Amino acid sequence: PQTIFDAIATRIPSRAALAAKLMMKYRDSTVHEVTVENIMGGMRGLPCMLWEISESDATGVRHHKQSLSELEASLPKWPGSTQMSPEAMLWFLYTAQIPTSAELQGFAAELARRAELPSDALAFIDTLPKNISADSQNIMIYTFLGKYSKFNAALARGISKDDLWKHALEDALDVIARSPVIVAAVYAKANGIAQNAVPFSPAFDMAHNFARYIGKEGDNDFIEFTRLCWAFYLDHGASVSSHGMRLASSSWADPYSSLAAGYIGATGPLHAKAIGDSVKFNLKALAALGSDPSRDEIIAYIGNYISEKKIIPGYGHALLRVRDARLEILRRFLDEHPSSDPQARSLLSLIRNMNECVPELLRERVPGMKNPHPNCDTLNGCILHAYGYPSDQLMLFFACSRAMGFMTQYVWDRALGLPIERPLSVTMDELLAKVQS
Ligand code: MLT
Repeated sequence: PQTIFDAIATRIPSRAALAAKLMMKYRDSTVHEVTVENIMGGMRGLPCMLWEISESDATGVRHHKQSLSELEASLPKWPGSTQMSPEAMLWFLYTAQIPTSAELQGFAAELARRAELPSDALAFIDTLPKNISADSQNIMIYTFLGKYSKFNAALARGISKDDLWKHALEDALDVIARSPVIVAAVYAKANGIAQNAVPFSPAFDMAHNFARYIGKEGDNDFIEFTRLCWAFYLDHGASVSSHGMRLASSSWADPYSSLAAGYIGATGPLHAKAIGDSVKFNLKALAALGSDPSRDEIIAYIGNYISEKKIIPGYGHALLRVRDARLEILRRFLDEHPSSDPQARSLLSLIRNMNECVPELLRERVPGMKNPHPNCDTLNGCILHAYGYPSDQLMLFFACSRAMGFMTQYVWDRALGLPIERPLSVTMDELLAKVQS
């Protein structure tokens, strides 16, 4: 079987040729007119971030032209699993090729071999104060690990630009493999579990290794859920965190620091903080309404949020205009793996009820809201909560997945020789002068 290095090297010439064609033949062609709304509206609707690993639009995300459900059907699964394999998805993302079973096994073993954290990083994690958030700890650990960047070491030695991607890939694979260990180490510290008591083993895939590390090896549903989430959550186009990662990395900041930059963007309530906020919101609603409230009770409860102009976590989306396909994947998982815990069942049933009524209410009461549908954040954190996963660490769990997406793009940015990002900034006065001239 090929290694990931061989498979990427095989793909580079055709993608580099396409980049050259776009730059030489179509250099001055217009793709989109920039309107004032694009500029005032956070670049919404402007196709201006080159991002090779996915195409996202109002209907959802595709990777190399394949929808998530097509990929679920075609990618090989880990032996004994019925869920998507994150390693298989990652291979596909890097190469646009479906891995063979042997490639999948070899790739998972390679990642497990790279997973160990240097002892000074574990010591650093132990020194982090408990009164800073898990998200902040996570970000600090990535920046700490920058000292181990092979990409930085190669730059310091002086290397050809043609070889940058190989050194980027060395770091990318290390950082992807280490992400679950970092998250597990933060989890272990918070829960009084000894660090590295069960080191990652090449015999298992990432999700299984992660579960062993945090003492959940016996919970097969949790392992399956981890596989599924890490496989489908790994990228969503030009989200704030992807864009943050890409912007930092375009200056050749190393992969560890670039990931930290992306994760900082995720800590806002309009992005991935919504995962934890949604758990709090739904638990509060459960305490107030019980598991099976009437439609009128839900409408009265949510109506207060709307009147007070509060965010309702897990509803709406900056890009999607239909129901989030990722939510359907989560629902199907729940149907196939119902929770045995009565409190969790009540919570999940309430969410399902609310998902039916809230969109209609938002449509009526919030004029201008472009998408009132629930998105995956209405449910993802609550399922993890049902597995006993701490609510203040949810973003870290999902960050393991984003590390895979972001680090794939990082390598391709270097392989294609993409330049530093440097758009022109513009003041409102300049904007007015331009449109009035
Ligand atoms: C994501 O998956 O990153 C969220 O759906 C947010 C976004 O795409 O902007």
